[in-house]
Amino acid sequence: MLEPQSILISESDIQQRVRELGAQISDDYADRELVLLGVLRGAVLFYADLARAISLPLRFEFLQLASYYDDTKPSQVQLIRGGSDYLAGRHVLIVEDIVDTGHTLKFLIGHLHLLNPKTVKVCTLLDKPSRRETAVSVDYCGFEVPDAFVVGYGLDYAQKYRNLPYIAVVEPEH
Ligand code: IMP
Ligand code: MG
Repeated sequence: MLEPQSILISESDIQQRVRELGAQISDDYADRELVLLGVLRGAVLFYADLARAISLPLRFEFLQLASYYDDTKPSQVQLIRGGSDYLAGRHVLIVEDIVDTGHTLKFLIGHLHLLNPKTVKVCTLLDKPSRRETAVSVDYCGFEVPDAFVVGYGLDYAQKYRNLPYIAVVEPEH
């Protein structure tokens, strides 16, 4: 059983906002070929709903990153899989679950530039600007959230809660 969580963003608010983002992206990329590049695993539910809210032909691509944190060094990010050469010369929209410190996104944008895309923009469901450690620009954002650990709609805590249809706050275990 999933334990009850305190809801921060309801399912209907998420669905409404995803439709707005899809309409905005459809306008902005009209007459251009768009590649939606999903970051596994956290972005999958957002990706699936956002793709259906965009009324343009889309190419689906995915990659997976891993971050390693310890107290002594800045976090290290690594590409685990994906990042095809298909992206060369294309308009790429990164679809992320959350931008927190910004290290993951900074690494990803640096990596993508090696693949020579025509443009790279970022769409994130959630943004926690108060936690930023490195400057990154976000082009489309679903919701700004406070400095709390959030789960649901793809986001996990120790691989749990990804399948909640809403965003909730979890209290860290002591
Ligand atoms: P970064 O700190 O911006 O590099 O964020 C890295 C990754 O940490 C995100 O893509 C998420 O997968 C994860 N993350 C950051 N904050 C949260 C959170 O509140 N809940 C769940 N995952 C998070
Ligand atoms: Mg992520």
